[in-house]
Amino acid sequence: MKKIAVIPADGVGPECVREGLKVLDAAAHKTGFKYETQEYDFGGDRYLRTGETVPDSALDELRGFDAIYLGAVGHPDVPAGILEHGILLKIRFAFDQYINLRPVKLFPGVWTPLRDKGPDEIDFVVVRENTEDMYVGIGGSMKKGTPDEVATQLAVYTRKGTERAIRYAFELARQRNKDRKLTLVDKSNVLTYGHDLWQRTFREVAKEYPDITPETAYVDACCMWMVKNPEWFDVIVTTNMFGDIITDLGAMIQGGLGVAAGGNINPEGVSMFEPIHGSAPRHAGKNTINPIAAILAAQMMVDCLGEKETADLIEKAVVDVLASGRIPDLSTRSGIKTTEIGNMIAEKVADA
Ligand code: IPM
Ligand code: MN
Repeated sequence: MKKIAVIPADGVGPECVREGLKVLDAAAHKTGFKYETQEYDFGGDRYLRTGETVPDSALDELRGFDAIYLGAVGHPDVPAGILEHGILLKIRFAFDQYINLRPVKLFPGVWTPLRDKGPDEIDFVVVRENTEDMYVGIGGSMKKGTPDEVATQLAVYTRKGTERAIRYAFELARQRNKDRKLTLVDKSNVLTYGHDLWQRTFREVAKEYPDITPETAYVDACCMWMVKNPEWFDVIVTTNMFGDIITDLGAMIQGGLGVAAGGNINPEGVSMFEPIHGSAPRHAGKNTINPIAAILAAQMMVDCLGEKETADLIEKAVVDVLASGRIPDLSTRSGIKTTEIGNMIAEKVADA
């Protein structure tokens, strides 16, 4: 019996998570996957009520779960940064979820803004390091609010953090067995200390994977190629901040934030899965948001829990529904209800 902690959180999070759990339930029913869920009310509303984000006692409790399923954080009445740091980043760091795994895969029948590119060309995975870089929260400011203000925000890279991300990415490239290629995306021509560490570690680890072709690209050029020649990529490994940025671009070429899912993974610990869209408060509660990203996050979650059959069933149902053209437009303007999309996919799963 697997234990899943559910944190629907803010904005459209709850309605998306509800559909994800609906589909998971249908799939588990088919395959016999046994799990139980427990919901936690962390998020903007709780913060406004109690001043609490994720209390440390709750972290201890979360440690007892096999995985965490997250909706979205961000509340219009809470200043930017509080929920991001207090919930999302707090959990990523507390559980040392050092990989942020973000597939960029265009499913058949999904519109991409890239003319002349299709599912054969857009199919790669970004391995984003998830615990270091500018996200460590080291820095400070002086003379704040004056014309002489000084601010620093440090990017921190460790050999250990760099190596484990790179190693994970090489393993993934081997496991995918697609082009057997791994591209390191950095800015080592400018960041001559931190990204030199990445470059050296990459070259060293590459020697252990003679079956995988190691390539490197600067992050600016990578953005260009993701648009111009996305077929050049198989697996990308990159730093936390660059990974954050390029995966939003990745989401757009795979059909939008409505389909982009990600996993915050600690291969030896508790991982957390989420749609990579935000809380989109303007759309909250209207039953218009596309829940496919959350459904695919649930799919990634069960895959990581070793439930391959359940994961494949969900993925196939999503692929079939998308290919059927029943959801012509994946945006909130599609006119198709959140619950209807969830139902279509759950029914596909049930009929499989
Ligand atoms: C993401 C988000 C987060 C990040 C924010 C909300 C802190 O943009 O998951 O990509 O920067 O990692
Ligand atoms: Mn982001």
